[in-house]
Amino acid sequence: MSIILGLESSCDETAAALVTGEGVVLSHKLATQEAQHRPYGGVVPEIAARAHVDALMPLVEAAFADAQLTLADVDAIAATAGPGLIGGVMVGLVTGKALAHAACKPLIAVNHLEGHALSPRLADRDLAFPYLLLLVSGGHCQLLRVEGVGQYRRLATTIDDAAGEAFDKTAKLLGLGYPGGPEVEKAALRGDAKGVPLPRPLVGTSDPHFSFAGLKSAVMRAAQSGKYTTDDIAASFTAAVIDCLVDRTDRALRESGGVSALVVAGGVAANRAIRSALEQLAARHDLPFVAPPLWLCTDNAAMIGWAGAERYALGLIDGMDVPARPRWPL
Ligand code: KG4
Ligand code: ZN
Repeated sequence: MSIILGLESSCDETAAALVTGEGVVLSHKLATQEAQHRPYGGVVPEIAARAHVDALMPLVEAAFADAQLTLADVDAIAATAGPGLIGGVMVGLVTGKALAHAACKPLIAVNHLEGHALSPRLADRDLAFPYLLLLVSGGHCQLLRVEGVGQYRRLATTIDDAAGEAFDKTAKLLGLGYPGGPEVEKAALRGDAKGVPLPRPLVGTSDPHFSFAGLKSAVMRAAQSGKYTTDDIAASFTAAVIDCLVDRTDRALRESGGVSALVVAGGVAANRAIRSALEQLAARHDLPFVAPPLWLCTDNAAMIGWAGAERYALGLIDGMDVPARPRWPL
């Protein structure tokens, strides 16, 4: 049985986890920087990088203590090498390199998106390739046909904002807190989803991609008009996002040539209304719907350790010269 140490530091969560090749999470530790970024209404890269330096090694030590293991017990060290805020990525990757060198263990440089893409297989060990993945986070909005480890066919991406970014910007426009997604979800529960007329960019078109910029501008005009309540705008915005996600995913399911399941991952998958709309879509296609538990949907190190375990099983390890990458498409 292999044991992998996973490290994550690409955005505003610092995390360390120990995961086995059989998909058992032995321990996972996470520190969020939300409070440090809240006064600025978004993630400040310089603050994030410094906070990762402070938090990462104590989390690694805590993860080992929890699992009653030491560095000598692991088979490999997997660290996020991108994409993300480069200062933070460098902290995690250099830490991974140093630990790998000190303990004479292999290093595995994990693409953060691959971590999200494979995390459903950690949640559900029976999930077989190929599956259709809707990856919806603060930085990404993509439909991927996951065909194997390292084999991803991108069917759609966003031509402007990511879905989570749209939630965060809407929250800011409406004067709700940061991070915006959970705040918009709460307000939406009190509002009327048909209260504000909003566009559904690209819905019904043969273009496979996502677009949220026009929706964001329409939300801004609605907020400035003074005609609508915050709750109604939040509910109508959420309904518009759901229509976009469902329509684009429906199109991809029809065109993707057969998949074993519809899978959703990324922070926006924490939204209950979005989850349930996607679950209904999967049922219409007679497919199982897989959504990892919420803690595994948002950024964490267990998914990086697991992607490392999947790569390690295939002998996919990296050299010490592997670079940290701010951009790294799957
Ligand atoms: O995957 P994640 O933790 O980090 C990235 O890699 O981006 O996703 C964070 C994003 C943020 O934009 C946040 O507003 C959004 O996920 N989010 C939500 C909810 N919880 C988090 N969006 C909608 N509804 C939620 N409940
Ligand atoms: Zn992420």
